[in-house]
Amino acid sequence: MKLGCCYYPEHWPEDWWAEDARRMRAMGLSLVRIGEFAWSLIEPEGGARFDWGWLDRAIDTLAAAGLRIILGTPTATPPKWLVDRMPDMVAIDEQGRPRGFGSRRHYCFSHEGYREECRRIVTALAERYGRHPAVAMWQTDNEYGCHDTVLSFSQAAASAFRGWCAARYGTVEALNAAWGNVFWSMEYRSFAEIDPPNLTVTEANPAHWLDYRRFASDQVASFNRAQVDIIRAHAPGIDITHNFMGFFTEFDHHDVGRDIDVATWDSYPLGFLEQFWFSAEEKRAYLRQGHPDIAAFHHDLYRGCCAKGSGGRWGVMEQQPGPVNWARFNPAPLPGMVALWTLEAAAHGAEFTSYFRWRQAPFAQEQMHAGLLRPDSSEAEAAEEVRLAAGMLAEIGPQGTARAQAALVFSYEAAWVIGIQPQGQSFRYLELVFETYSALRARGLDVDIVAPDADLAGYRMVLVPTLPIVPQGFAERLAALQCPVLLGPRSGSKTASFRIPEGLAPGALKPLIPLTVTRVESLRGAFAEEAEGFAVTRWREDVASELAPELSDDAGRGIVYRHDHIRYCAVWPDRALLALLVERMADEAGAPLLDLPEGIRVRRTQSHVFTFNHAADPVPVPHLGVTLPPASWHLAPR
Ligand code: GAL
Repeated sequence: MKLGCCYYPEHWPEDWWAEDARRMRAMGLSLVRIGEFAWSLIEPEGGARFDWGWLDRAIDTLAAAGLRIILGTPTATPPKWLVDRMPDMVAIDEQGRPRGFGSRRHYCFSHEGYREECRRIVTALAERYGRHPAVAMWQTDNEYGCHDTVLSFSQAAASAFRGWCAARYGTVEALNAAWGNVFWSMEYRSFAEIDPPNLTVTEANPAHWLDYRRFASDQVASFNRAQVDIIRAHAPGIDITHNFMGFFTEFDHHDVGRDIDVATWDSYPLGFLEQFWFSAEEKRAYLRQGHPDIAAFHHDLYRGCCAKGSGGRWGVMEQQPGPVNWARFNPAPLPGMVALWTLEAAAHGAEFTSYFRWRQAPFAQEQMHAGLLRPDSSEAEAAEEVRLAAGMLAEIGPQGTARAQAALVFSYEAAWVIGIQPQGQSFRYLELVFETYSALRARGLDVDIVAPDADLAGYRMVLVPTLPIVPQGFAERLAALQCPVLLGPRSGSKTASFRIPEGLAPGALKPLIPLTVTRVESLRGAFAEEAEGFAVTRWREDVASELAPELSDDAGRGIVYRHDHIRYCAVWPDRALLALLVERMADEAGAPLLDLPEGIRVRRTQSHVFTFNHAADPVPVPHLGVTLPPASWHLAPR
C-alpha cells in the first residue's frame, strides 16, 4: 500500500513547494493529491483565460521530487464570477432558500448551465494534464453530497425531475396509480404539474419522496459520468476515483462506483464517533481511537463499490492525522492510532492511504484541522507515525485481499426507504447494518459489504440486515445458495413504488420462507421486552406462519423463524441476539469463530493475519497469548 497526502500548493509560497515535496518523500509518501478546490486560481475570471503557470510548476516540482499526482477537478468550488453570471446555479434547500456563496458545494446537480461549465473546465484540465507522465490518477469533484448537497429543490431540479418521471412512468396516469395519488386528491393532470416533495403542509407522499431520492441520486451519477467521459477521452488508461464520505447514503454509491476505477473514501474515525449514534459509553471508551469498526466498516463497504466480483479497487483519500475541526468535540488520536489506521487500511486491501492534510492551514475555515505539519512547518505528532507505518508497509509488501467468510448486503435504496418512513425514530438503517457488521467482526469474521446485485456464491454466510424493496432476481439468488442466510426485519415490506406488497411482507421473499408479517410496531427508548438471553427493543413484527419459531420471547411470540438455509428475524436485533445468530450461522457453515476481547479486531489478507487493539488500555488476547498495548497491532503470517 502506498502513502500520500492532500496538498494545496496554492496555499503556500511557491518557494516552499520543493522543500515540502522533499519532506513528503522523506516521510515515506509517494502520492500527492492536489487541485480539487483551485478553480479560481486556474481561471481567475470567465472567458477561458486560464492561468496554468502555477499548476504546471506545482506538478513539475512535486514530480521532480518523485511524487505521483492525484489531480482533482475543481467543480466543488465554483468561483464567484461564475455564480454571479448564473445566480440560479446554486442549490435550493428544503426550506426553499438559496445556498449562498462563501464556502463550497454551492451548486445544483441539475443546473444545465453549471454542468456545461463543469464540462468546460474539466475538458481544459484534461487536455492539459491528461497525458502528463506524473499524473497517476484523477479525482472527480470532492465528496459529492457533503454539507447536505445531494438534494436541491431548485427550478432546474424540478424541471429535470418532471422529465425523469415522464421517462420512468410514460403516462401521468401510470405515475398517479403507482404513487397512490388518489389518496388526499393528489392526482396530477400532467408531468408539468409535479413539484419536488418539499414545502408540503404535512409529509409528502413517500412514493413521491422515494422517486425524488432516486432522481437526485441519478443526477449525481450523471454529473460524475460527464467528467469521467471527458477524462477518459484525454487520459486513456489513467485511473479515475471519487472520494466518498463516511456514514453517508444520500446517493447510490454503487451506481457512481460502476463508472470509476477506484473507490476512495475519507476516513475521520474520531469525528464520526462523535457525530453519529454511538452511545455515551462508547464515545467515552473510544474517544481517541474511534469505535473499532468505524474505519473497517467503510473499508469493506467501499471495497465493494467498484467491485468486479467481490473485491474492488479502493483506497483512503483523506486520513485523519490529528484533531479535526468539524465535530462537536474534536479530540486528538491516542499515540499510535494514525499508524494503526494506516495498517488497518492495508489489512483491508487499500491501494493507498493519503493523509488530510500535509500542513495545517493558518487561515480560513479549517485552520483548527491538524495536518502532518503544523502551520509553522514543524512536524505534528502524526508525522513520526507515518514514518513508522511506511517502514512497516515496506516490510510486509503488498497485501492481496481474500474473499471474506461473510457477505453483508448493503442497499442505498433501503436507506432511503427507511429514512423516508422510519415508523419508529430509532429504526436507523446505517445503525442496523453497522451493528450487524460489528457482530460479525467481534467474532473474528472477515466481511465483504456488497451491493444487492453482487455475486453471493462462495460465502459461508449472507446477511441482509433489511431490504424493504427486493430487486428482481434477488430472492432466486438467495434460494440458490447453500449457506445460511439471515433476512432482517422489514425485508420485502415494500414494492418498488413504495406500497405494501399484495399478500403482505415479506412480499417477494415469501417463496424463501413461509411466513406473513401481519402487524408491526415500534417501541420507544428504553422499552425492552425480555427474551431468552436477549431483549426486543425498537421494533417487532407479528408473524403468522406454520413454522415453529426458532427463537421466541418469554411470552411465546416468535422472533426468529428458520426454513432450510433461510432465517427471518422479526425484530430489531439487539447485540445479544445478533451475537447468537452469528454463532448459529457460523456453526452451521462450519466457519471458525474467535472470542475477541472488547476493542480487538482481526483481519486476514492473503498473506497475513493482522490483530488490532482499538482499546485505550492494554488488552490480553487469549488466542494469541499476548497482551497488546493500546493502539497497537500484532502481525503474523497467515
Ligand atoms: C473532508 C473534505 C476535505 C476537508 C476535510 C476536513 O470532508 O473532503 O476537503 O474539508 O473533510 O476534515
